[in-house]
Amino acid sequence: SERTLVLIKPDGVERGLTGEILRRIEAKGYTITELKQLSASPEQLAAHYAEHEGKPFYQPLVDFMLSGPVVAAIVEGHGVINGFRSLAGQTDPTSAAPGTIRGDLGRDWGEKVQKNLVHGSDSVESAEREIAIWF
Ligand code: GTP
Ligand code: MG
Repeated sequence: SERTLVLIKPDGVERGLTGEILRRIEAKGYTITELKQLSASPEQLAAHYAEHEGKPFYQPLVDFMLSGPVVAAIVEGHGVINGFRSLAGQTDPTSAAPGTIRGDLGRDWGEKVQKNLVHGSDSVESAEREIAIWF
């Protein structure tokens, strides 16, 4: 079945939300097939965020992702790529709907980077590319 790459970003790990986020993924009925906590390397982040290189938020985003450990997971299930993005909510946690991870647990901290707790792949091609970066 389909699979996606989920990252719990440093804000989620630091705030002790790893269990709550994984709980929501499991409660939805998806299967976590690989799971690890790690400190991301600059090389992993350059590859992961290559599409954003040159944008004003790129360096703050990379610095944020290097600021503490992340949790990486491979999550499987029918329609999981779009399904997880639906669970996560909109990119900006201020706009994300209640009921979503970002809407319920995230907010604007007034910083250059959006600390929005999670990453989820946005297509089959992205998922396979990103899984190869993190696993
Ligand atoms: P991911 O699941 O993390 O990839 O989020 P996304 O797909 O909702 O957003 P996108 O891939 O467009 O951007 C990646 C990350 O860059 C986001 O999760 C944010 O942390 C950050 N980001 C994206 N757009 C902006 C922006 O306009 N301003 C700021 N400050 N950060 C942004
Ligand atoms: Mg994205």
